[in-house]
Amino acid sequence: MPLLSTWGMFRWSLFITVLIMITWIYFYHDPAPPMVLPEISKNTFEFIRQNINKSHQATQIETLWRQIVTKFVSLPLHPGGSHSIPLLASIVLTNGSILELGCGRSSTPMLHNLTLFTRRYLLSVDSHKAWLSNMSSSMSNSPLHKFQHVTDWSTIGNDHRWSVVLVDNAPEQRRMHDIVKYAYRSQVLVIHDSEAAGYQYDKVAPFFPYKYQYQYIEAYTDVWSTTETSLIDHIRYLSELTIPWQLPRRAPKNKLPTQ
Ligand SMILES: *[C@@H]1O[C@H](CO)[C@@H](O)[C@H](O)[C@H]1NC(C)=O
Ligand SMILES: *[C@@H]1O[C@H](CO)[C@@H](O)[C@H](O)[C@H]1NC(C)=O
Ligand SMILES: *[C@@H]1O[C@H](CO)[C@@H](O)[C@H](O)[C@H]1NC(C)=O
Ligand SMILES: *[C@@H]1O[C@H](CO)[C@@H](O)[C@H](O)[C@H]1NC(C)=O
Repeated sequence: MPLLSTWGMFRWSLFITVLIMITWIYFYHDPAPPMVLPEISKNTFEFIRQNINKSHQATQIETLWRQIVTKFVSLPLHPGGSHSIPLLASIVLTNGSILELGCGRSSTPMLHNLTLFTRRYLLSVDSHKAWLSNMSSSMSNSPLHKFQHVTDWSTIGNDHRWSVVLVDNAPEQRRMHDIVKYAYRSQVLVIHDSEAAGYQYDKVAPFFPYKYQYQYIEAYTDVWSTTETSLIDHIRYLSELTIPWQLPRRAPKNKLPTQ
């Protein structure tokens, strides 16, 4: 003789089901809505520039900065593109023209995208003609982004005051001359390979009272300015924020000579 008839079992399970449903309805709360990240825009850069110095905006700034890095930096970081983070920070924190001395597979596409995104003028120059035309033909045509082949470095870049100058050009002895040349024609200089003695950066370093070195990945990158003390502080701040993110990076293989 079973303890409960089939009908009794049915009534019990119906009762328990209804009880569970009532309990569920009673205690159910909407899950937290998914965090909607604001779409970044040119105004995001402006927002960061205006609020970077306000500590109550620090969380918001970090979130936006992370989105900007995700959008513009190609990962993993590698020795040839090891300057991407401080270069991007320098561009986010300024609003004027950009000069790229020496094209690269990382910097030129990133700067191209940034210049279209922010509607800022970019001049990319290189002494290697085939390399320059390879770069320019792989990017969309825009009046904002000009490419120029250079035979005499002293003749270019003289018609502008630049916000950011990227120093990544060849031959290596030329770089310190360009650093001096743009010392007072730019807000900041972003200088690649700054741990390498061959460029003799130490000879011109004394001209620049404000400096930051990014060391997350070799080759190191320096950011120097003759005038902009707080700009360098803020570039340092944004760049160092990325260190705990542990962005993927590729170490130099055997320090092969660059092409
Ligand atoms: C630049 O933008 C193009 C087109 O949106 C994209 O395919 C490319 O990955 C971007 N490159 C970088 C370095 O942001
Ligand atoms: C660009 O920044 C400078 C300060 O560095 C500011 O005076 C100027 O108004 C800004 N221009 C634009 C278009 O935002
Ligand atoms: C640029 O050079 C690379 C090889 O280094 C080649 O694969 C690519 O097709 C070239 N692009 C253009 C547009 O010439
Ligand atoms: C704001 O900038 C000044 C000058 O760079 C600096 O001394 C101060 O610590 C900054 N404050 C914050 C909250 O970042």
